[in-house]
Amino acid sequence: MDRPASRRRPLLGRLPVVLLALAASAPALQAQTLVRGAPGETIRTAGGMVVSEHPEASRAGAEVLAAGGNAVDAAIATGFALAVTHPSAGNIGGGGFMVIRFPDGASTALDFRERAPGAAYPEMFVGSDGEYSSEIHHRSHRAVGVPGTVAGFDKAHKLYGAMNWERLVYPSVVLAEDGFELSERLAGSLARFVERSPYEATIQAYSRDGVPYAPGDTLRQYDLAGSLRRIMLNRSDGFYRGETARLLAEEMRRGGGMITETDLMAYRARERAPIRGSYRGWEVISMPPPSSGGVAMVEMLEILEGYDMESLGHNTSRSLHLMIEAMRRAYRDRAVYLADPDYVDVPIHELTSEAHAAAQRATIDRTRASVSSPADVAVGTESFETTHYSVVDADGMAVSVTYTLEAGFGSGIVVPGAGFLLNNEMGDFNGRPGLTTETGLIGTDPNLARPGQRMLSSMTPTILARNGELAAVIGSPGGRTIINTVLQLVINLVDHRMGFPEAVEAGRIHHQWLPDRVSVEEDALSGATLEALENMGHTVVVRGRQGLAHSIWLDPLTGERVGTPDARNPDAGAAGHR
Ligand code: DON
Repeated sequence: MDRPASRRRPLLGRLPVVLLALAASAPALQAQTLVRGAPGETIRTAGGMVVSEHPEASRAGAEVLAAGGNAVDAAIATGFALAVTHPSAGNIGGGGFMVIRFPDGASTALDFRERAPGAAYPEMFVGSDGEYSSEIHHRSHRAVGVPGTVAGFDKAHKLYGAMNWERLVYPSVVLAEDGFELSERLAGSLARFVERSPYEATIQAYSRDGVPYAPGDTLRQYDLAGSLRRIMLNRSDGFYRGETARLLAEEMRRGGGMITETDLMAYRARERAPIRGSYRGWEVISMPPPSSGGVAMVEMLEILEGYDMESLGHNTSRSLHLMIEAMRRAYRDRAVYLADPDYVDVPIHELTSEAHAAAQRATIDRTRASVSSPADVAVGTESFETTHYSVVDADGMAVSVTYTLEAGFGSGIVVPGAGFLLNNEMGDFNGRPGLTTETGLIGTDPNLARPGQRMLSSMTPTILARNGELAAVIGSPGGRTIINTVLQLVINLVDHRMGFPEAVEAGRIHHQWLPDRVSVEEDALSGATLEALENMGHTVVVRGRQGLAHSIWLDPLTGERVGTPDARNPDAGAAGHR
């Protein structure tokens, strides 16, 4: 593990709960040090910075930084706050990944991906008619994996946090109890979510007895506040044992799910060695399996390093063609080889090697599209709700977090009495052994549901460094598109020498081997470029936005942190301190 023995600053003494209330509700003391961007606005500061999907969550993290917490502390506070203010993806009922780079350049990664319950088996998504059921796989109590977020934050804090745990959870308790103002976007998305929900606890959590909230209304979540309070007082035991665990397991029994209190007690977050690669002298630090993100991105970068991407130009047909061919090959390898490394031998070293990249390049024709072969495996679509946030503290410690409930609002199931949504991450396992279809299912062996296994992910929280100095903290939601969104951020920075926000704003493309087509963000490419790609043999489809890359860039001239919420969500917000 690339981790020095002790990186922990001594804990600031444990505040009694009464004092905590005072500490957390004293923004006036810290106000002069806080800088807060309007939603969507880029901000600069020489101090600490948090950029996330919601300004209140960024503020919760920035206040922790201003009060002396480090980047891990701020990431934990922001993560808990997002569980309140960004219910479609922020969570305590889901899981994710955290990549950390320390000021001395060492790095580590925390894996708090959900796991299959002990009763899981590869055929568990087959219905009573003997057929694979997408409904069971993605939209049922069986779609719920054992959540990892709370254990992940607890472990991150024990290993690397500097501040008192209660102080980190407290802002989320306040946000849940006192409420926060609903934006037009969030009010609209909650209304649509509640309207189609069959679950009474879900309807109660996100509407007034079934009547949707309007923009500007205050959303208060008392049951969620209770769950967060139990976490504040008892750390991960406040979630995996006791009242919350009991309520969760009870809901599983009621709805035909598999997670038991034993599964909850058995959950452990894991510390793992990050994937490290280099691209034209830049250092790339990213998430290892059970995410496919770091391996696939480094494989693509190794392939592309063999071409002069800079002179081919940004988003020209010739540079895009090479990127698409790299994507096609890395996503094929992803489908064939990648899964939970605790269960399957993943050839990480081989896939990210220069020799493998050279072999891949040898199969690329610079003027013609290759053909993906569905004879091997076919790949399905993924939904688009996850959330990424980035943190850098005043000392230069950097934290990149992507976490998720899988689909928007996950399984849609709120645990009655506990007020939080459960994930539907079991949908990231392959659906059924051997079931590989043109329409998008993979049936390969490595990523089948087995007791305790973690499902394969595409989340790619990443940190870049250059000449030994922190350069950027990046990542994105977007299911399988995530890896390509992060890849394009790297190419924009390194090859096309863009600063932020240009690198984040630039239009994105995606190819995932199968289905064999390139999707292109609306207005990303000119008509002539689209035509040139088609003439090379690519099938091109135009789609809506790709990704939400809430990033921090270190200005090499001034050393300032440039907080860049991805303007594809105008509600996202940066907050920092001077
Ligand atoms: O872990 C994964 O790769 C997916 N469950 C992430 C889902 C996702 O990004 C959806 N959203 N934007």
